[in-house]
Amino acid sequence: MEVKAFVWNSGELKILNQLKLPQTEEWLSLKSYKEVAKAIKDMVVRGAPAIGCVGAYGFVLGVKYEKVDPEEVFQTLKNTRPTAVNLFWALERVKKALESGQDVEEEAKAIEREDYETNLKMGKIGNTLIPEGARILTHCNTGALATTGYGTALGVIRSAFRSGKNIFVWVDETRPYLQGSRLTAWELAKEGIPHKIITDSTAGFLMSKKMVDIIIVGADRITLRGDVANKIGTYTLAVLAKEHKIPFYVVAPASTFDPKLFSGEEIPIEERRGEEVKSCFGCKVAPTESGALHWGFDVTPAELIDAIITEKGIIQKPTPEKIKRVLGI
Ligand code: MRU
Repeated sequence: MEVKAFVWNSGELKILNQLKLPQTEEWLSLKSYKEVAKAIKDMVVRGAPAIGCVGAYGFVLGVKYEKVDPEEVFQTLKNTRPTAVNLFWALERVKKALESGQDVEEEAKAIEREDYETNLKMGKIGNTLIPEGARILTHCNTGALATTGYGTALGVIRSAFRSGKNIFVWVDETRPYLQGSRLTAWELAKEGIPHKIITDSTAGFLMSKKMVDIIIVGADRITLRGDVANKIGTYTLAVLAKEHKIPFYVVAPASTFDPKLFSGEEIPIEERRGEEVKSCFGCKVAPTESGALHWGFDVTPAELIDAIITEKGIIQKPTPEKIKRVLGI
């Protein structure tokens, strides 16, 4: 069984503190929407589908248990992280449920259930693209910790492994939060999937040495033309994949698509504090007087993507027409 990032228990949201992993498995008990907003902002919980679902439970805490004005709760949770569209998608869903007189708690539970089922479907569909013996490179953490369980890109890797394929995973460490080395490697180790961690800058040379067969990543927002925002460093991998003729796949549920946006240039890119680059988990790694730029995400243009794997099917060489057809929008 894969791990859980959070557990809802009527009126209480328990969250696994991802900032402390893998050293400590610390569970935090959140009972207010403000605590949930802070946990999302501080990346105690992260990953596009996970923050969507946790955001929805935050809304439930605020309007149903704390009886706060829904608009105030909605805005507070919305203004935490700007790039992953799943957060806004889930918040809109619970807000609509409230407005139409439905039980918001049931709606949040439905979002959680559906995301898990979606991940299983994407795993099964994506597995058809993974050859026996594949050496797969992945970036950031797209596993059970980034979702409601199982995972998106890591879900496909899980499915390939569970179906008996002899796969191997290269794990980008993913500076500066180290979601790769701290979280993905932790999930892979728990499941016994063979892997090795590499520094982000190793990926290109590894490809040149023909040691990577496939690259699989997740997504935080996908536009109508198929441009993909994902963890910073993804674009670099896609360019390198093209140079080395390595298939580049994105795995994401329909809730990660934002068809209101046509091009990737329209996606708001989160800029976090430069201090997060200048230190590594409490240890200073740069001079105090130096500035630092910390974009959390980059955009990979559709032209560099071989396929987007969704729960509704595979979108080969994405175009607006193919995206609309597969998603049924
Ligand atoms: O900043 P994070 O850790 O929230 O970024 C997460 C990612 O970029 C993932 O690749 C993305 O959310 C897809 S995971 C299901």
